Amino acid sequence: MTEISGKAAVVTGGGSGIGMGLAKELARQGAAVAVADINLDNAEKIAGEIRAAGGQAVAVHCDVCECGSIARMKQQAVAALGPIQLVFANAGATSFTPLAQMSDDDVDWIIQVNLMGVMYTTRAFLPDLMSAGEGHICATASMAGLLPGWIPEHVPYSAAKAGIIGMMMNLALELKPFNIHTTSYCPGGVASGMKTNNGSYRPDRFGGPVAVAEVQFTGNSNVHSGPAFYRPEAVAPMVLEAVRNNRAFVFDHAEQRRLFRETYAGVVEACYDAADAWERAHGLPPANPTGAALA
Ligand SMILES: NC(=O)c1ccc[n+]([C@@H]2O[C@H](COP(=O)([O-])OP(=O)(O)OC[C@H]3O[C@@H](n4cnc5c(N)ncnc54)[C@H](O)[C@@H]3O)[C@@H](O)[C@H]2O)c1
Repeated sequence: MTEISGKAAVVTGGGSGIGMGLAKELARQGAAVAVADINLDNAEKIAGEIRAAGGQAVAVHCDVCECGSIARMKQQAVAALGPIQLVFANAGATSFTPLAQMSDDDVDWIIQVNLMGVMYTTRAFLPDLMSAGEGHICATASMAGLLPGWIPEHVPYSAAKAGIIGMMMNLALELKPFNIHTTSYCPGGVASGMKTNNGSYRPDRFGGPVAVAEVQFTGNSNVHSGPAFYRPEAVAPMVLEAVRNNRAFVFDHAEQRRLFRETYAGVVEACYDAADAWERAHGLPPANPTGAALA
């Protein structure tokens, strides 16, 4: 079990959408919350709303693409709330652009904010969690990391989100002796600022903010017609329940859970078919008792 009441939490990207929902629900359940965001005005607004509702919160500026910025954010969060036990590495952004039309800066930004932002945030708080012998790291990945065919024109984003899932699953093994657990939250459509504000988050070192027309979600007609969008307030309790129970994953949409099961059942079967065909043609490779095809 991971206790939430009485703990101190940080939520990156807490100024909007899913992070806002998580910050408010954490406070409602008795945690003190550092609302960290590249947009300090939004973080202050959310922290103010939490305090007005009787919770404890502080707003902190942070760009998760910069280790120095995360270190300063951590210092301010700990000064205000004490040691942090619950880390929600949630900040992210996307661009619905074909890879060939993306600039190098666009690609770097999407990888940095989504993948390295989670890596840097995790690494910044890890020593504190380990020395305390307790804690939880919940990273917001995406169904796009598990089902990369789900939303087209999401190449760096899908890569980054798949990377988060690998990171969290591997880290869980490393952290088991320290009583620290990880969760990959894979949203499958939550109403947030992501469709409209995205380009405004792009830091100067990646070319600065860009005006992006509101994205029309099309989904991939081969696999999905487009998601129903849940409210952040509706998914946050689901995520915290998973954190409380130290669950490795949260898939918030029932339809996507089904799609995930069907897709990977097919992938696993296809792998076996390929390995079986190899063995029929060449025999089992002597140094490879798993039977996996090597060619
Ligand atoms: N909304 C969805 O349907 C959906 C689906 C899958 C995954 N996600 C993921 O959920 C997370 C939250 O996104 P959201 O949908 O709430 O969108 P959002 O745009 O409402 O919130 C993103 C927040 O992250 C902040 N942010 C952006 N870049 C930052 C940076 N460099 N440093 C610090 N903060 C930064 C923004 O200011 C904003 O407050 C993201 O990781 C996103 O990829 C969302």
